[in-house]
Amino acid sequence: MKAQGMRIYPARRINLAILGNKRIAILGYGSQGRAQALNLRDSGFEPIIGLPTGSRSRQRAFSDKFRIKTPSDAVKDADIVAVLAPDHVHGELFANDIGKAIHPGQIFIFAHALSVHFKLIEQPTGIDFLLVAPHAPGLRMRERFMRGGSVSAFIGKTDKSSEKSLRFAAAYAKAIGCNHRALIVSSFTDEAIGDIFGEQAVLCGGLAGLLKAGYKTLVKSGIPPHNAYLECIYQLDLIVDLIKRYGIGGMYERISLTARYGSTRAENKIINAQSEKAMGELLKGIKSGKFVKELLKNSKKGVAAKPARAANTYQQQIDCLARRFSSISDQ
Ligand SMILES: NC(=O)c1ccc[n+]([C@@H]2O[C@H](COP(=O)([O-])OP(=O)(O)OC[C@H]3O[C@@H](n4cnc5c(N)ncnc54)[C@H](OP(=O)(O)O)[C@@H]3O)[C@@H](O)[C@H]2O)c1
Repeated sequence: MKAQGMRIYPARRINLAILGNKRIAILGYGSQGRAQALNLRDSGFEPIIGLPTGSRSRQRAFSDKFRIKTPSDAVKDADIVAVLAPDHVHGELFANDIGKAIHPGQIFIFAHALSVHFKLIEQPTGIDFLLVAPHAPGLRMRERFMRGGSVSAFIGKTDKSSEKSLRFAAAYAKAIGCNHRALIVSSFTDEAIGDIFGEQAVLCGGLAGLLKAGYKTLVKSGIPPHNAYLECIYQLDLIVDLIKRYGIGGMYERISLTARYGSTRAENKIINAQSEKAMGELLKGIKSGKFVKELLKNSKKGVAAKPARAANTYQQQIDCLARRFSSISDQ
């Protein structure tokens, strides 16, 4: 089946040479910043890293032998700027720091559309805003790239950006290690909403909730914690692997009859109309901007960055078991 409406950027049109004479700046040197900078270097481009003078990341960029400037100096001298600082600081970064350094003809690349879609920043006239959103954390991108692999990504441009600018997104994506055969064209709106919802409802939040609930149910019934961990959590990657290769139906075909019979009947008992209603509420809050408003408010108060680790004793047990089993098994 063809994915309806999916547009893949044609690999034959990607031309790395268009980046050849461009000065590239990367703002931020965290998960994405470091991976993109190192992959760019290995693709033949040498970015400048823009970090505030007090940034903890300066030492790492320095050890990796990159030139480091303040964000405003890095932007002043750049043709292409990848904005890889945390999403919630983009507004202040543009307003207070780099706003005056921006000049017409520049290209700004975002790894997530949040700050543009929710108008934390306004696109200045004469500047192209592009999206290159890799579908993986930076560490995984770097590992894959070093093994000759790649990850898929969304690429896109805002309506105000010039027609020809999308080719820069495609070239940049290839240079940072995104698969040139899997550059999927997306709008900023679809990426912003889809990404925030996907991570909250399914990939991170929903999954963490499901795993903890399964573990807790078994442990409370008297099953030893390590059994509960191994049965409900440890084998997750094997199932995800089957789903990614063969789909959900293909996964069901490849597990035991007992597992298939029981699981297909349990599926709707666990995730049902009530969960879908909760997902709908979540989505409403994301689309309306309520979530982003809350994120900004709590980031300012320092609450948003609080580690999730101390959340509850069941999670602490799981984290402890994860460390234990990852140190004794290479599965
Ligand atoms: N991580 C992922 O898996 C992933 C995947 C796809 C897209 N993205 C997107 O990539 C972007 C970066 O996310 P990330 O996860 O890489 O962030 P991160 O790991 O938290 O790193 C952020 C970096 O930005 C620096 N920084 C903080 N304030 C800054 C400022 N005012 N100016 C310049 N640099 C500043 C931080 O320095 P300090 O050390 O001083 O804090 C740090 O080096 C976000 O838009 C995110 O949504 C992330």
